[in-house]
Amino acid sequence: MIRPLRPRRSVLYVPASNTRAMAKTASLNADAIIFDLEDAVAPDVKEDAREALRNYFHAHQHCTAERIIRINCLSSEWGAEDLLAARACRPEAILLPKVETPQDITGVAEILEETDASEGIRLWAMIETPRGILNADEIAELGLRSTARLDCFVVGSNDISKETGTKGRALLATWLMQVLLCAKAGKLDIIDGVYNNFADLDGFAAECDEAAQMGFDGKTLIHPSQIEIANTVFLPDPESVAEARFIVQAFSDRENLNKGVISLNGKMVERLHLEAAKKLLAKLDAIGEK
Ligand code: COA
Ligand code: MG
Repeated sequence: MIRPLRPRRSVLYVPASNTRAMAKTASLNADAIIFDLEDAVAPDVKEDAREALRNYFHAHQHCTAERIIRINCLSSEWGAEDLLAARACRPEAILLPKVETPQDITGVAEILEETDASEGIRLWAMIETPRGILNADEIAELGLRSTARLDCFVVGSNDISKETGTKGRALLATWLMQVLLCAKAGKLDIIDGVYNNFADLDGFAAECDEAAQMGFDGKTLIHPSQIEIANTVFLPDPESVAEARFIVQAFSDRENLNKGVISLNGKMVERLHLEAAKKLLAKLDAIGEK
């Protein structure tokens, strides 16, 4: 299944209960915005947050950023109402927290099917519990089935730490890479967890850098000051872009049209490199079109 490539370098959480922050989103250059009804909204104001969200989407029909609404778990007292409110807002996607089984996704996809048969609203899944990590492979396989609507994994590193008692990113890395591998096998994007200390921009930049090396498509953010750093770090670097163009050009040369492997400046280049080069250039185009 081929789905449109979207830049997801900077994915900013905004609590739906914070009207001032919500109003600010229109002026921000994030690739995507997650309007949160879950953890960032206190129990007493869940209904107010839903109402604020409905008003916001009614007033802002178009937006350059991809818009996602994070709802509470369907097993919670707020989940069902959240899903109805989110569906009515018609965001690009709904983000489901604490996904642990494929049925957590397919159940919601069936509910969306009732009013959105065109599959316009996609699903994103938070992988943030031990069970979710263990089942990430089966869950990610849904990325290969268009009716499941699944587009993207979001890692919830704070919850993983909380659930496991594991402290520090170095020790979480094995699980993060495991989930990342599953996402790639299911042709899903995967966005790294948040960096809590938003005053420490150097530390944030270093973590973005590491996330990009690990293979994440972007980072979830909590503060506007983090947007430009993520946009820059996850932008393909000029050398990689030049190399990708070179590879695409070389394979389109007449004498190489039927070759599986060629030599470029003393390096072996195969068709798998051509595929990666085309993907990188398509990503760059998608960023340029934003
Ligand atoms: N999205 C949009 N705007 C935001 C924002 C966000 N996530 N975080 C802060 N802002 C805005 C503020 O409203 C403020 O706007 P103003 O200049 O118009 O007043 C400006 O950016 C500066 O904010 P600042 O004073 O530095 O931060 P704060 O103390 O108001 O908020 C947090 C700090 C952490 C509470 C806030 O950034 C936040 O709620 N982040 C998201 C948390 C979240 O969603 N967590 C769930 C997922 S982990
Ligand atoms: Mg969480």
